[in-house]
Amino acid sequence: MAIREILTDKDPVLHKKCHSVTQFDQRLWDLIDDMRATLEDAGGAGLAAPQVGILRRVVVLMDENDEMLELVNPELIAQEGEQDGLEGCLSVPGLWGYVKRPQKVRVKAQDRKGAWFEAGGEGIVARCFCHEIEHLDGHVFTERVDHIYTSEEIEQLWEEEEKGN
Ligand code: NI
Repeated sequence: MAIREILTDKDPVLHKKCHSVTQFDQRLWDLIDDMRATLEDAGGAGLAAPQVGILRRVVVLMDENDEMLELVNPELIAQEGEQDGLEGCLSVPGLWGYVKRPQKVRVKAQDRKGAWFEAGGEGIVARCFCHEIEHLDGHVFTERVDHIYTSEEIEQLWEEEEKGN
């Protein structure tokens, strides 16, 4: 297992559509293991293969039980409700924005051996599923926001909110 470099959204790889995975072999397992190590090291909520420079439809993310889930060829199959919340990305360090997402999602995906399963989540986990699957189509959350905030601006916003309450 190795920690791979996380590319920023300035890299063209982050803006390309990823290919489906068709070979469930050692090469895929090495990629997934490296992505797990990289996500754990970065302390993020999710990581998509293009963020480590690989144009394949592979995602790892933290589920509702705070366990890491591996998704190969994931597809959104159901969604419900709406939420508006703050979002960030390991490829866009230090910047944040408010993005509307479904409140609840259901996803189907293959595991590392190719077996299909379903997973899903609500709130912040639903947000993460949507965010990571969008990475596989070459999209970054900053395309969806009206305004980009720096970490300092977010802190200031929260302080003001606290004073208002
Ligand atoms: Ni991201």
